Amino acid sequence: MAFRCSITDKQEKIHTWPYGLSVGEGGYYGAVKHYYGMNHLRRSILNATEDEYKFRQMLQKSKYPIKCALEIGTFKGTGTALMAHYAKKVITIDKFNFVDKYAFWMEFDVYQKIFSYIIEDEEDKKKLIDTLDFDFAFIDGDHTEEGIRSDLACVKRCGRVLFHDYYDDEAQGIVPVVNELAKTDRVINNMPFAYWERPGWTDS
Ligand SMILES: C[S@@+](CC[C@H](N)C(=O)[O-])C[C@H]1O[C@@H](n2cnc3c(N)ncnc32)[C@H](O)[C@@H]1O
Repeated sequence: MAFRCSITDKQEKIHTWPYGLSVGEGGYYGAVKHYYGMNHLRRSILNATEDEYKFRQMLQKSKYPIKCALEIGTFKGTGTALMAHYAKKVITIDKFNFVDKYAFWMEFDVYQKIFSYIIEDEEDKKKLIDTLDFDFAFIDGDHTEEGIRSDLACVKRCGRVLFHDYYDDEAQGIVPVVNELAKTDRVINNMPFAYWERPGWTDS
């Protein structure tokens, strides 16, 4: 029976000529690793192949689709490109301009949906974010507790925030901040991700 295949399928072992012909590991993770190498995966949301599925799940946690996502911490744009598949538009902010990201976004056909900004300092970042309209935020920039608190304060008004690098380890800056949110609000943990949504969040 014919079936419709997709990028989320696992790569099965296929024996064909020439034997041992290298193929990726399936999915977006596999494609990035195969064509761009570990250099593009390092420090990204794709630490492991399972992380791709977790990230996809978290982007779809809310019953309301994302109109505009704001990412703090672009790096080489790996997470940005995947987010662009779930959002109409993605705004991404970093302290540095890692130029590999542009060709990468073009290759994955999401370049037109992404608006990339470089900030000078925290004050500059805050001023920029104050001018932006977004309904989902992804925090993956400065991983210190102070940095996470400051980024959360900048984006919290949007009502939906996804955090990267949430582990069972109080020494990680993100952990006390997320645990504090979880005291009053529902936070979904799917390590290494944690997702907070303001109670009663609705699309406007
Ligand atoms: C772990 S990487 C982000 C990975 C990216 N989200 C991905 O999935 O491919 C962290 C990025 O945050 C940036 N960064 C560090 N401190 C920052 C800050 N205070 N504001 C904005 N970006 C920051 C770094 O330059 C780096 O590119």
